[in-house]
Amino acid sequence: MNDQALQSTDLQADTGRLLGRIQTLGLVGALEGGGVCRLALTDADREGRDLVHGWMRELGLATRVDQIGNVVGIRQGAEDSAPVMIGSHIDSVATGGLYDGALGVLAGLEAVQTLNDAGITTRCPVAVGFFTNEEGARFAPDMMGSAVHQGSLPLVEALETVGTDGQSVGSELDRIGSSGDAPVNELVPRAYLELHIEQGPVLEESGTTIGAVTGVQGISWTEFQFSGVSNHAGTTPMRLRHDAGYVASAVAVEARAIATRLGGHQVATVGVTELGPNLVNVIANQARVTVDLRNTSDSELVLAEARMADFVESTAASEGVELQQRTLARFSPVEFDPQIVGLIEAAAGRYGCSCQRLPSGAGHDAQMFAPNCPTGMIFVPSQGGISHNVTEFTSKEDIAAGMNILMQVLTELSG
Ligand code: HGY
Ligand code: MN
Ligand code: MN
Repeated sequence: MNDQALQSTDLQADTGRLLGRIQTLGLVGALEGGGVCRLALTDADREGRDLVHGWMRELGLATRVDQIGNVVGIRQGAEDSAPVMIGSHIDSVATGGLYDGALGVLAGLEAVQTLNDAGITTRCPVAVGFFTNEEGARFAPDMMGSAVHQGSLPLVEALETVGTDGQSVGSELDRIGSSGDAPVNELVPRAYLELHIEQGPVLEESGTTIGAVTGVQGISWTEFQFSGVSNHAGTTPMRLRHDAGYVASAVAVEARAIATRLGGHQVATVGVTELGPNLVNVIANQARVTVDLRNTSDSELVLAEARMADFVESTAASEGVELQQRTLARFSPVEFDPQIVGLIEAAAGRYGCSCQRLPSGAGHDAQMFAPNCPTGMIFVPSQGGISHNVTEFTSKEDIAAGMNILMQVLTELSG
């Protein structure tokens, strides 16, 4: 990016060490040709958890595992008070990159090691956490572990959630041995910080190194299931069809049209389309479709949801197809603490880094902390704006900048 060389201030993290841990964690669930698959509560997720938990212990953190498998390590401060927490996630989507989530957790470990190396005792404790099932790709909703940790999702409801492969969160937690006995919803940090890749094009397009994140946009995930009549593709006149596959495809086209008509921050994604019996010469009688709608404005998001629901109901009815639907996730937009946003901007200025404010297009664990404590996020650019893709990449220089801003804000918040 177009910044001067980083000016050193008092505490300098070791970016090489951080990148080393990112590469080592990236070997867990590594995919042929690059990227990772560490879907929540799979064996790869367990392996990643064990690796990071071991690093926490090596750094002298007092660790605890709670009943939904969240892991928090605490470094004592001079005071016995609420910690400043750095957190994120180590689970990934099935076609994930090295940095989504991992950067934030491992930057927290790097901050601890930098404090250890400098022999510094902060006034209040410093905590580093990784939260179960941030991605929501296997078990919806996303940010599940942090939502339970911060009290916005009941533990029992989360444990009973059945995933895309028919397993429940509770049974998978037990299977991989990752559920703990620390109570959930008992630790509210003094402040929560998260370093994360932007996962979009904004910083790169504006040539900016640091994002001072203002908040997270609203998220709405809905699953639609259509039941029609399977019949012969050649003999069935169009007037007699009840084609679940047609309705599923119409939903995808309309989702795009709704986003285009609303404009602004509205986005719409049909990420899952499953047809049954999924044969070239059989009219589909079953279809399952997911619709992901997001907007920084809740009223606009509600409008998009209503238009989608109206279209689905009328199209299914006119095709004579039965409809079932369920909400997989619904989070209103969240604002981060303006003071922390200001600290991030000031730290960027101190390091001579270009910085801009922006909302997050992606959901993050931070949004579950924002209602309970001062919360902020630092973004670094994603090359090509790419994420949730094995080619996800952020440069060493940008990671160094993000790490140093995190270090700066952490030391200011933790004294
Ligand atoms: O879906 C999201 O925005 C996040 O990656 N879980
Ligand atoms: Mn993430
Ligand atoms: Mn993600």
